[in-house]
Amino acid sequence: MNYRTDRLILRPWRESDRQPFASLNASADVMRYFPKTLTPAESSGMVDIIEQKMAINGWGLWAIEEKSSGAFMGFVGLNVPSYPLPFSPCIEIGWRLDSPFWGKGYAPEAARKALEIGFEQYGMSEIVSFTALVNTPSQRVMEKIGMVRGEEFDHPALEAGHPLRRHVVYRIKKS
Ligand SMILES: CC(C)(COP(=O)(O)OP(=O)(O)OC[C@H]1O[C@@H](n2cnc3c(N)ncnc32)[C@H](O)[C@@H]1OP(=O)(O)O)[C@@H](O)C(=O)NCCC(=O)NCCS
Repeated sequence: MNYRTDRLILRPWRESDRQPFASLNASADVMRYFPKTLTPAESSGMVDIIEQKMAINGWGLWAIEEKSSGAFMGFVGLNVPSYPLPFSPCIEIGWRLDSPFWGKGYAPEAARKALEIGFEQYGMSEIVSFTALVNTPSQRVMEKIGMVRGEEFDHPALEAGHPLRRHVVYRIKKS
């Protein structure tokens, strides 16, 4: 199912999204707050998992299209993290857009729609988001969509001393 905002379409993935997604996942700029960039095979594997989860749940990490150009820009959406976190079980909202599309308020615009879908259509009661403490752009998106800053924690998949290990969680409730 497609969802529309003023400037964006949240939609299921297409085969033609795999190449631009691999390109943004290979970008050191886009991935600067992640432990590493992804190979094309890793990127494609991620699309496979996103599509599997979307087929099961109906919701997920939607492909985001710019209405004016038809360009695939990345993903925004909802996901159950695949590893245990201090606040598990949880549903997270997340985003990853290619750098030419940054700074236009696209991530918050798509994220507001994703929250609406989660709360209104799927009856979710709370949605969280978390990121490395150094990822201030992502925290700005969380603030813009009304999420409340919570506690800091060490990401369980990152070793002691890793510069991205310290994370912060934000939350928003249906009400
Ligand atoms: C985080 C991200 C989704 C923000 O998307 P966006 O559509 O640019 O969001 P906004 O336009 O609302 O900008 C949010 C903040 O990003 C930062 N930002 C915007 N344009 C930027 C640019 N060209 N370069 C660096 N930072 C930028 C600013 O801090 C901005 O906050 P401000 O509006 O108060 O100035 C996007 O930067 C991204 O995909 N980053 C790479 C992947 C990532 O880190 N994902 C989150 C993992 S938890």
